[in-house]
Amino acid sequence: MPSPRKKITVVGAGQVGSTVAQLTAYRNLGDIVIIDIIDGIPQGKALDLQESSCLQAFDSLVTGTNDYKDTANSDIVVITAGLPRKPGMSRDDLLATNAKIVQSVTEQIMQHSRSPIIIVVSNPLDAMVYMTKKTSNLPKNKIIGMAGVLDSARLRTFVSLELGCSLVDVDAMVLGGHGDSMVPLPRYTSVSGIPITELMTQEQIDRVIERTRKGGAEIVQLIKTSSAFYAPGASVVKMIEVILQDKRSILPCTAYLEGEYGWNKIFFGVPVMMGSQGIEKIIELKMNDEEKAALDASAREVKKTCNEIDAMLAQSN
Ligand code: LAC
Repeated sequence: MPSPRKKITVVGAGQVGSTVAQLTAYRNLGDIVIIDIIDGIPQGKALDLQESSCLQAFDSLVTGTNDYKDTANSDIVVITAGLPRKPGMSRDDLLATNAKIVQSVTEQIMQHSRSPIIIVVSNPLDAMVYMTKKTSNLPKNKIIGMAGVLDSARLRTFVSLELGCSLVDVDAMVLGGHGDSMVPLPRYTSVSGIPITELMTQEQIDRVIERTRKGGAEIVQLIKTSSAFYAPGASVVKMIEVILQDKRSILPCTAYLEGEYGWNKIFFGVPVMMGSQGIEKIIELKMNDEEKAALDASAREVKKTCNEIDAMLAQSN
């Protein structure tokens, strides 16, 4: 009999992958497989994490492996594999290298799991989710990019620091591509239901928005040898929890558009309702002219990177 426990595979045993595995275990969300191409690292990290289970009170089994057979019948797969950014690099600088890695990972996952929900974290995010969809042929509700939850968490943090108010009272919506063109929406960002447009000056709003757009780069500049991992890891685990507990939460996520927001056949950050089936619904917000122009500009940037993936795939066929 298959185990009723959920199986979560994390591809890539780097900082983001390790953080996802750790938080998933701490929350008792299911059994965890950490897979990486480097021999020893996933095995060692898995064993180390497993040895913390009696202290953290979780029953998840944690396996580390280099063999995709061990990922068989995963319910959720998180792809973090790929090169991270170095200082001065944009996420797009990673496109060609990471596209090949993400393609190969997706092929191997699909050999062993029939219909997993795949959450993609690798950068450049929008193009990598697109590659995963093209390679897996999974239905669009089962392929999700992690970007909006992270970008919104950053905006929430900066709003709270700016206002000196409770962090958990702040809500925010950041849509668009996961790059410098992302679109933080002040009208849909609030503290205890009060839009920040009522609480902050335009100068303050501009400052937190700019810092959010550069949020990933700020961390790379500081750490130098790594990109961010605590907030990205926590964002992924929030999504895993919403899916496995069928919460039907509304979150900004990177979803496949077929006409929504006037765009077709791209992955793009939009508000979605998320539950056991992955993306259950895309929510179309009313946009004013300025917001729509910013979203369109971001979508044009994303479309270019998706076209690059199409060109890569056409060349290899
Ligand atoms: C960041 C990476 C995860 O924004 O894209 O930090």
